[in-house]
Amino acid sequence: MKLINYKPPKWFFGHKLAQKFLHRQKVPTKFIKLLDQEDTQIQKLDYKIKNTKYEIYIKRDDQTHRDIHLQGNKLRKLEFLFAEALSQNAKHILTAGGLQSNHCRAVAAVSKLFNLDSHLFLRSNTNDPSKLNINGNLLINFLLDSKIYLIEKRAQYLSDIEYKMKILKDKIKQNLGEESYIIPIGGSNTIGLFGYIEQFNEMIDKQNIDEFISDIIVTSGSGGTMSGLAIANYMTGSKFKIHSFCVCDNSNYFYNHLEKEFQNLFGSDTGVDTRNFVNIIQCSRGLGYAKSTQDELNFLVDFFRQTNVLLDPVYTGKTMYSLVNLLNDEKPTSDYFNDPNAENFVSNLKGNRILFIHTGGQLGNFDVDKFSEFSLCKTKSNVFNCFGDNVFNIRP
Ligand SMILES: Cc1ncc(COP(=O)(O)O)c(C=O)c1O
Repeated sequence: MKLINYKPPKWFFGHKLAQKFLHRQKVPTKFIKLLDQEDTQIQKLDYKIKNTKYEIYIKRDDQTHRDIHLQGNKLRKLEFLFAEALSQNAKHILTAGGLQSNHCRAVAAVSKLFNLDSHLFLRSNTNDPSKLNINGNLLINFLLDSKIYLIEKRAQYLSDIEYKMKILKDKIKQNLGEESYIIPIGGSNTIGLFGYIEQFNEMIDKQNIDEFISDIIVTSGSGGTMSGLAIANYMTGSKFKIHSFCVCDNSNYFYNHLEKEFQNLFGSDTGVDTRNFVNIIQCSRGLGYAKSTQDELNFLVDFFRQTNVLLDPVYTGKTMYSLVNLLNDEKPTSDYFNDPNAENFVSNLKGNRILFIHTGGQLGNFDVDKFSEFSLCKTKSNVFNCFGDNVFNIRP
């Protein structure tokens, strides 16, 4: 795999905003092709919602790669971030996230492709390695031989985590004489967001979604995916309405993240109000990051059985759960009452043809703690003992 020269789509440089204000040094100049196909499929969903006037389509960014450990939205961001890491001759990649972070697992997987060492700072409830359950994404990190650094659940990125990553970077330089490259949580910086500028271009250029889609739904965890899509949509004439459902923090946090990224690219004198780029829903957070209710898990299972599409419990499952509830005029979570954008969601839709971006994360379903409370897993009423002579249990 080699470094390829990168130029953003024509509409990006052609836009009057770019011609007047663009900070060219912020635009990546290289990328590496990590996706193993030209574009990810868009399918019409066969899922029955009460309010039948809506059509839901799904963009399969969970299938950015045929290998399970590489899949998901992060691969698109890593095409740009790893290009920069390799250009800087990095031998070590440092990043951070939750214990079951899809992003960290994708970083571990791509590092292995390039024979780089991955160092993952993971927020954990315990500082005792013997108490860790090794499953889901964390298991893949173990199989790939990543180094894992446990940090407090509440650790702040800038003050605690980045600070520790920089200490590690310095120690690697001092002790091994090798370079390290730090990727922020979720790969959500200005370089990473070009993954979703390109994804947007794929959807309008190759898949002509403007002919059949009115609204785009995307999950936000660190905000990079939504920022790329929102900036691209604005620069191509706002053909769609973008709705971002957050699974942590709150809507203000993500509005600010988008504004910061926009200003990184174009400065603060454009007079453009990025608040109009996206409609952010926060009631999808539910009980909080990576915490699920029975209802959300039941929905995920029901959705899987009806559509054959497996969502994930932390990101896409919560988003689809909230989306379907809102379309059906139901209140997904008690947070609904603190979220005016949720109350006005239906009236804010541009039309009735909705594209849901499936950003992946299915390995999160293999976090065994997650489904232990799901009723079928608890009662095991679909399991029959047929050991030895025990044949009376054999029945349809
Ligand atoms: C499966 C999945 N979907 C969506 C997201 C959200 O993407 P972003 O971090 O760019 O907001 C993430 C990561 O946070 C993820 O792992």
